[in-house]
Amino acid sequence: MRPLDKIIINKDTSFNPIWIMRQAGRYLPEFREIRKKNPNFINLCLNDDLSSEITLQPLKRFDLDAAIIFSDILMLPYGLGQKVEFKKNFGPILGDLSIDKISKIKEVDFVEKLQSVYKAIEKVSLNLSRENKNTIGFVGAPWTLLVYMINKQSPKKTVKKDFFKDELLINKILLIIEKFLKIHIKNQIANGANIIQIFDSWAGLLDEKDLPNYIYTPTANLVDYVKSLNTPVICFPREIKNYKEFCNIVKPDVISIDYNIDPKKIVKEIQIPIQGGMNPKILLTDKETLKKEASKYLDIFKDHPYIFNLGHGVLPETNPSMFDYLVKTVKNY
Ligand code: CP3
Repeated sequence: MRPLDKIIINKDTSFNPIWIMRQAGRYLPEFREIRKKNPNFINLCLNDDLSSEITLQPLKRFDLDAAIIFSDILMLPYGLGQKVEFKKNFGPILGDLSIDKISKIKEVDFVEKLQSVYKAIEKVSLNLSRENKNTIGFVGAPWTLLVYMINKQSPKKTVKKDFFKDELLINKILLIIEKFLKIHIKNQIANGANIIQIFDSWAGLLDEKDLPNYIYTPTANLVDYVKSLNTPVICFPREIKNYKEFCNIVKPDVISIDYNIDPKKIVKEIQIPIQGGMNPKILLTDKETLKKEASKYLDIFKDHPYIFNLGHGVLPETNPSMFDYLVKTVKNY
C-alpha cells in the first residue's frame, strides 16, 4: 500500500507521510534552470518530458512520499480555449471569456489539448509505482476557476464589484467548468494519478450565504465523482470560514488546512484524516524554529491520521536546505 493510502484508507496513526504544495517550483535551482529556457509557462506545462522531469526533481533531492504533477489549475480554462498567460511578478492574466465558445467545446478536443498533461502523469506514475509512492493529480475547485475565468487575474482580497451581476450566466459557466473538471479528473486517473487534490484557493472570499451554491454543491459533486472512480480525494478550501461544516457537507477523504487554522481546535472538530497547516514562512526562519513548529503539528496530530504538508505552497525564496531539514524532521519524528 502507498504511504498516503495507509493514512487515508487504513487511518494509520503510526507514521506521517510528507509531501509539500508547490514542491516542484522556483525555490529549486534545477527548476529555475529549466524555467529560464522556457519563458512560456503554459508551453512548459504542455511539454511532457520537461513537466515529468520537473515533477520528479524534488523527489530526487528529498525523501518525499508523493509527487504532485507539475501543471496548473489554469490548464482548464486553457483547455476550454480561454487565453492564459503568466506575467513575471504579477501572476496569471486570462483573455476574455466567451460563453458561446466554451459551450461548444467537445470532450475529444479538450482532451486532445491537454494530452501532454496526461502523458506526463503516465511517465511520473510509472516511475513512482516502482518506489511505492503516490502520484497526485489535481484540479482547481469550480469556484476558484470561476474567479479566475471571470476576474481574469488573481483577485487579491475581493472579486470585482460587478462579479455576481449576471447570476444566470455565472451558473451556466459553473456547470461547464464542473463538466470539464470531471473529464480532466477522469483522464488524470486513467493515466496513473492515484489521489486527486481539489484546490479552492479563493474559498475565503465568499460570504457564508453564497457557500452552498458556489462551493458546497459543485465541490461535493466533484468529490462524489472522484470517489466513484475509487480514488481518494483531498480538499483544500483555503481560508473557508467553517472547515467543519465544509467536511460535513462535501465529505472529502482528507481535508487540507491553511495556516490560519488552530490545529488544536480542528483536531477535536474533524474526524477525517487531516493534511497540512504549517505556515510556509517558518521555512524562512532557522532550523530550531522550524523543528519546533513542525513538531508542534506532529504532536497535536499524534493520534489522528495526518499527512504532513504546509498551509499553502512553499515560497520561492525558501532555501532548499531548510526544506531538506523539514523532511528529515518529519521522517525522524
Ligand atoms: O508542485 C506543485 O504544487 C505542482 C504544480 C502546481 C502549480 N500550480 C505550478 C505553478 C500546482 C498544484 C498549482 C496550483 C495552482 N495554480 C493554484 C492553487 C494553489 C494555490 O497556490 O493557491 C493556483 C491558485 C494557481 C494559479 C497560479 N499559477 C498562480 C496564481 C500563479 C502565479 C503565482 C506564482 O506562484 O507565481 C501560477 C504560476 C505557477 N504555477 C508557478 C508554478 C510552479 C510559478 C510559475 C513560474 O515559474 O513563474
